[in-house]
Amino acid sequence: MRSSISPCLKPFLALVLSLAAFGVAKPALAWWMYTPGDTVDNVGYKPEQPIPFSHKLHAGKNNIPCQYCHSAARRSSSAGIPPLNACMGCHRLVATDKPNIQKVTEHYKNNDPIKWIKVHDLPDFVRFPHKIHVTDKTEGGAGIECQECHGKVQEMDVVEQVAPLQMGWCIGCHKERKAKLECVACHY
Ligand code: HEC
Ligand code: HEC
Ligand code: HEC
Ligand code: HEC
Ligand code: HEC
Repeated sequence: MRSSISPCLKPFLALVLSLAAFGVAKPALAWWMYTPGDTVDNVGYKPEQPIPFSHKLHAGKNNIPCQYCHSAARRSSSAGIPPLNACMGCHRLVATDKPNIQKVTEHYKNNDPIKWIKVHDLPDFVRFPHKIHVTDKTEGGAGIECQECHGKVQEMDVVEQVAPLQMGWCIGCHKERKAKLECVACHY
């Protein structure tokens, strides 16, 4: 477990949220909202993955669109990680002589999903829906490019967290783009 909120902060969160709901302690909240929270700031976090999957090779050099693999982003909260049969769509034929592709194929044949290590991880009390952020403006979304939040993933051999994912980061953009600022928009 990395950097999740300590259990003793949870009652505190509930208290603050209920105060906020009753409109109490607004000045105090205003101070606190702009004080950088520090539960999630893993900028630069870049874990080695069990299979050296390169975005630079797939999304960069081979130009495979982000949503070919992360197709859930448009439809749901989670952008999702593609299942092995998505890999096999190409790797049944492509680079089958390479040891890492043979490993991927073994996982597929044994019905044994690869245990990718999570790079981004918000605490459970925060709601982040990909769908509304990434769908086109013409379809009622905000039309934000993946790269605005995730950086130039198509140039990364190993995915790295580039945004702090702190409350102040979310709020900053929400203020700028006139999106919701109510506590309950982002907190359960
Ligand atoms: C060929 C399939 C494929 C394509 C195309 C692809 N990805 Fe991925 N992506 C993956 C896989 C597999 C992982 C998990 C392994 C890893 O983290 O490298 C992943 C992980 C990620 C992560 C980290 C997830 C986490 O754990 O927090 C981000 C962010 C991401 N992709 C964004 C993108 C973006 C942006 C693009 C387009 C520029 C893109 N991906 C294109 C397959 C793909
Ligand atoms: C749309 C086609 C496509 C999909 C889908 C795809 N790949 Fe690839 N992959 C490629 C191509 C093309 C190469 C480069 C092959 C080469 O250089 O010979 C490659 C190369 C690789 C390599 C490097 C092999 C080596 O050692 O040189 C790995 C590892 C890999 N892919 C893993 C994956 C995984 C895991 C997935 C699923 C999450 C996936 N790929 C999905 C097309 C794809
Ligand atoms: C407004 C900022 C923002 C945009 C735009 C965005 N993401 Fe994310 N992404 C996040 C945050 C925040 C998380 C962490 C979510 C969590 O831990 O609950 C995340 C997590 C992910 C993950 C990890 C798996 C998951 O769903 O939690 C992947 C993969 C990913 N994003 C891919 C993408 C792709 C591909 C796009 C473009 C189609 C995209 N993201 C657009 C902020 C963004
Ligand atoms: C780069 C700008 C940007 C960043 C960063 C960003 N958002 Fe947003 N977000 C938006 C915009 C714009 C909308 C409004 C979309 C619309 O209504 O069309 C939105 C909408 C939302 C909504 C839907 C609100 C509703 O009910 O209508 C939630 C929830 C949300 N964001 C949570 C988050 C969280 C949590 C983070 C940080 C982890 C975050 N956002 C970071 C721009 C951003
Ligand atoms: C646009 C999304 C968004 C809005 C609106 C929002 N928060 Fe948050 N909040 C987050 C994110 C993301 C985190 C986790 C990262 C962090 O700790 O900074 C967080 C963390 C917290 C924490 C944990 C303590 C800490 O510093 O880490 C508390 C308590 C909290 N928020 C209360 C509130 C209250 C009260 C409001 C309304 C005044 C509010 N939040 C509005 C996104 C939001």
